[in-house]
Amino acid sequence: MKLIDLTGSVLRRAAPPTPAIVHVEPDGVIVGHTTADDRPIDLPMPVMVQLDNRHTFVSGASGFGKTGLLLLWLLGIIARMARLPLAQRPAIIIWDPKGDLDELDSGIAARCPDMLGHLSAIDPLQTAVPMNLCVLEKGILSPRLLTATLVDLVNAISSAGNGVALGNQQIIAIGAVIEAVLHAPSSNLHWAAQAFQPDGIPVLAGRTTSDVAREALLGLHLTPELSASCRIRLLQAFGGLGSEAWEASIAAPSCLSFRDMLLPGRITRFCLGNSPGALESPVKVACMATFKLVLAAIQQRVTPFTGTPAVLVLDECAVVAPVIANSLEKTLSLTRSRGAGLVLATQSTTQLSAVSPGLLSAVLTNCAHKVAGRVGVPSEAMLYAKELADSGAAGSARDELAQSLLKLKPREFVLFGQSGAPVRFVTDTLPKAAWLAAADKQADAIAAARSRHIVPSGHRPTRLFDSGSQAQADNTNPPTAGRRSHWG
Ligand SMILES: Nc1ncnc2c1ncn2[C@@H]1O[C@H](COP(=O)(O)OP(=O)(O)O)[C@@H](O)[C@H]1O
Ligand SMILES: [Mg+2]
Repeated sequence: MKLIDLTGSVLRRAAPPTPAIVHVEPDGVIVGHTTADDRPIDLPMPVMVQLDNRHTFVSGASGFGKTGLLLLWLLGIIARMARLPLAQRPAIIIWDPKGDLDELDSGIAARCPDMLGHLSAIDPLQTAVPMNLCVLEKGILSPRLLTATLVDLVNAISSAGNGVALGNQQIIAIGAVIEAVLHAPSSNLHWAAQAFQPDGIPVLAGRTTSDVAREALLGLHLTPELSASCRIRLLQAFGGLGSEAWEASIAAPSCLSFRDMLLPGRITRFCLGNSPGALESPVKVACMATFKLVLAAIQQRVTPFTGTPAVLVLDECAVVAPVIANSLEKTLSLTRSRGAGLVLATQSTTQLSAVSPGLLSAVLTNCAHKVAGRVGVPSEAMLYAKELADSGAAGSARDELAQSLLKLKPREFVLFGQSGAPVRFVTDTLPKAAWLAAADKQADAIAAARSRHIVPSGHRPTRLFDSGSQAQADNTNPPTAGRRSHWG
């Protein structure tokens, strides 16, 4: 059987027309069988081949099998990666806000156990994983750009939590403080919130090493109200999460390397918790922060991009929607031009519309492939069918589509592409028993994948004002000294 080169051979073939969706193509992964006649159905690799649009949108009501579909798809991609030389493998980064993709690890153990050595399953909230953004590796972003990225992040997190974006005065004040914090030895983002306590600004000005940042800081005109509101917004973003692990992780002497995650063959899964029900704010914050920083790392790539492709999978993508809502088109074209394919999965299209009105149509327009599962209400089915059938389908075809979306069974989906008629299919059964058995055998390798990033114990956030920890801060290594690759 011919091995498939994920990064190039598809291109070297004459560009294949895609007349029909059901095509067991060499660059696809079989995830199920058609409802009508039990033919195998594959999903194309979400790997960018030059500027080819490989973004994919997956939707469907909760419990109807989206995560199961992602598991099948990801395992197919990873199994294929395993057959390639390391340098040709894409990087895969997965955001799993509900911890539903935990089974991926056992699936890998069953299908291609060697790949466990390349897997990093990171839970920034359960374990102390270094997330000290003040020691993000140099070169990924200049301090200026990093400041802008972090202010943007505070804005997104705060908007998601309060429904109100930062005002101009807040942006200026928070920006000045963050820039000063980034230039202070042994600092962490707790300092940013503390700087808005009474007398905090002069203390921070005395600690920062940047003259420019100090001047900006001392030039601020802060009213008590402005200080209080900035402090609260910073606490929402970088502190006050009530989790000791999180606090330890943002005080660590190093930070996860978001650039390393994009190296060939790396598989990173942000497993952000197993919290049933509503997603809690620390999970959202961690999702948004890590996604934003991966995007920032991708932005540093040259364009047009010719290096290692990346696949970014976001299960429950509504969680990170606030950080991309205002710049979704930009994000989708940025990732596309820099070799990263996005897979966005969500429970309902209305979850996206709720974040911002244009979000859904932007997603549908920019995703070459759409996989629609069960839809809850007729109005949503109509809306969806209208967007999806814009390729020129007759009104009756749309109605038919809307009706079928309402009746889809669990694990049943409709696949739409850039061309060809929609196809209804059922996902294949996950071999869970085999996975469990394999996970038992590979328990050590899975445990290693889940603990690659643990912070050495004893690190706690240092405080600007607390003299005890001040002394400790002074004894800590300078920020860059502790950085190292966590895959080493
Ligand atoms: N292909 C499949 N084979 C076997 N079980 C599946 C499959 N897809 C989903 N399930 C199971 O059905 C339940 C709900 O599926 P899930 O994928 O979590 O739904 P969703 O992500 O849409 O909420 C889970 O217990 C899951 O393990
Ligand atoms: Mg799910």
